[in-house]
Amino acid sequence: MELNDFTPNTIIEPFRIRSVEPIRFTSLEQRKELLQQAGYNPFLLKAKDVLIDLLTDSGTGAMSSNQWSGMISSDESYAGSESFYKFEAAVRDITGFEHVIPTHQGRAAENILFTTIARKGDVIPSNTHFDTTRAHVEHNGAEALDLVIDEGRQPLTIHPFKGNMNVEKLRETIESIGRERIPVIMLTLTNNSGGGQPVSMQNIKEVSEIAREFDIPFFIDACRFAENSWFIKTREDGYADKSPIEIAREIFSYADGCTMSAKKDGMANIGGFLALNDDQIAQECRSLTILTEGFPTYGGMAGYDMEAVAAGLYEALDEGYLRYRIRSTAYFGEKLTDAGISIVQPTGGHAVYIDAREMLPNIKPLEYPAWSLTNALYLIGGVRAVEIGSVMFGLQPDGTEKPAAMELVRLAIPRRVYTQSHIDYLAEVVINTFEQREKLNGYKIVSAPPVLRHFSARLEPFES
Ligand code: F0G
Repeated sequence: MELNDFTPNTIIEPFRIRSVEPIRFTSLEQRKELLQQAGYNPFLLKAKDVLIDLLTDSGTGAMSSNQWSGMISSDESYAGSESFYKFEAAVRDITGFEHVIPTHQGRAAENILFTTIARKGDVIPSNTHFDTTRAHVEHNGAEALDLVIDEGRQPLTIHPFKGNMNVEKLRETIESIGRERIPVIMLTLTNNSGGGQPVSMQNIKEVSEIAREFDIPFFIDACRFAENSWFIKTREDGYADKSPIEIAREIFSYADGCTMSAKKDGMANIGGFLALNDDQIAQECRSLTILTEGFPTYGGMAGYDMEAVAAGLYEALDEGYLRYRIRSTAYFGEKLTDAGISIVQPTGGHAVYIDAREMLPNIKPLEYPAWSLTNALYLIGGVRAVEIGSVMFGLQPDGTEKPAAMELVRLAIPRRVYTQSHIDYLAEVVINTFEQREKLNGYKIVSAPPVLRHFSARLEPFES
């Protein structure tokens, strides 16, 4: 008898594990003390005191045996190393951009780009700037303007591409302030600060057309370009039969350049690049790279890092990997939604974002509800998440405070690191915290630096 083919419902981890890293269990009493010592700031905890670390998906992924084998045979020459040419070929193959400038991570690429093209009084529109991007834009005296569609600011509204730019507002902005003051238009794929939400190919095309009409360079913040490609494949008409790499190539074909943190969809623990077509800007950027990063054929990376990225960019585009990656995040999101917890809908690519304003209506925005929830997740389950709310975004350039547009807690999933039972445990921790939500207090900031304050601020809870 002919056997029937079998389509499993379970999407398994598409790898097996042959090197393991122990994680450490602590008690509630220990975690209370550890958090207090860390100034109630999870960034200041020691990683060994965290059971499951969802602080970030950046540089925290597991590399493949394929990447490690490339690393062993790397070329560490200062100039013109083989590893650089492999890295350059991979970036060119996927992005199509002529000039490939390696940097030690994404923010270094941002620094080089904005120092080269942005001036005081300029405005740089994006769907939503990530915090380091915003900081680099502002550091150069320019304004970072977020023009995401309205749905992108409504956590519970379902929309397939909530990372899209509002193109009418983009056009109005250019017409009202003049193209001379806009050195570049950006799009962040996926939109990290807005819930890891994707941007549609249609929207990328429309932004590109406006940029070309006004002769403004268009750059992509490409950190999670592979995850964005998967969303286009599964949600946008006409892309179901295309491979992720074909979709990625089409995305980049509409842009003039990109900044990239290879710590995300480069599947590496460190690295990044700036890639672009304009010869003149590329030359200026290379000069600055020599000053701040290193010679332009290593730019702050070891040869073995470039090997890891060269292989990782392709692994991030593997269909089996992307299917598992996006499904595993959605599975986590579904468990929370089923328990009545409000998360940014639909679930993003690299993370689940809990709506803390919704969960903790009694904590005032400037008493930081998302911060409070983040700390409770650590206390209850040893889980480290990150606040994307008023501690991260509330401080204005003039020193005043304003509540952030959303109060989110991001649970970012490192790539290829945790298994389904870890995710089941995580869901239990969040649900247990939700059940105890009325016991949570607001926080006040005791000390903080003037920029990017969330990384090192010290806080204290209000007494209940
Ligand atoms: N752009 C986006 C959209 C990012 O998410 C990040 C980093 C960067 C730029 C900067 O890259 O860290 O290599 O310098 N995001 C990390 C995160 C830190 O946790 O989301 P980097």
